[in-house]
Amino acid sequence: MFKIGVLASGGGTNLQAVIDAVKSGVIKGEIVSVLSNNKSAYALERARVNGIEAVNIGRKQFSGISEYSKALASHFLERETDLIVLAGFMVILGEDFIKPFRNKIINIHPSLIPSFCGQGFYGLKVHEAVLKSGVKVTGATVHFVDENADTGPIILQKAVDVKDYDTPEILQKRVMEEAEWKILPEAIRLISQNELVIKDNIVRRKK
Ligand code: GRF
Repeated sequence: MFKIGVLASGGGTNLQAVIDAVKSGVIKGEIVSVLSNNKSAYALERARVNGIEAVNIGRKQFSGISEYSKALASHFLERETDLIVLAGFMVILGEDFIKPFRNKIINIHPSLIPSFCGQGFYGLKVHEAVLKSGVKVTGATVHFVDENADTGPIILQKAVDVKDYDTPEILQKRVMEEAEWKILPEAIRLISQNELVIKDNIVRRKK
């Protein structure tokens, strides 16, 4: 069985999309653990009500990001996790987390990378910047995670229209509904069925 681990800090609507895709059989695998740095993250409650292990490991218990990264890596290594999904995880983890899971960690970002991404672009800030720039199209991206913020190989993207009188909140909701909740489960499905190859930082479907 393909084993999925999820890291989330907030409401967990993307986690919910993954839970639903597992339940409906679109993703053939199981979510082995949902871990949050935030003990009151609603994502943990979503895990609990679905019978999935829900774990809170706070960042402040550790002296540095390296120690925290090691602890999280051990957690998922112990569970023999095949893929780790960052679904709104607000801590940038170090190489001690990335290295043991090279090309086995993915992230969902609420813009079309390489626009509106990197340090400081998270949550509503992304959509505020999109609206300020005047672009007419935004979207979401699922990508593999490397040592830098939002730079790893892109797996899937989906475009979403920006409308004239959008607020950051309205745009955030549209991007989630029309893009994030679709491409995140689809990326997990493709990876779990071994349908992708990565070469020279480019992700392609196998021929
Ligand atoms: C999403 O917009 C995701 O793209 C970003 O953080 C947000 C998490 O939302 N990385 P949720 O917790 O999945 O509802």
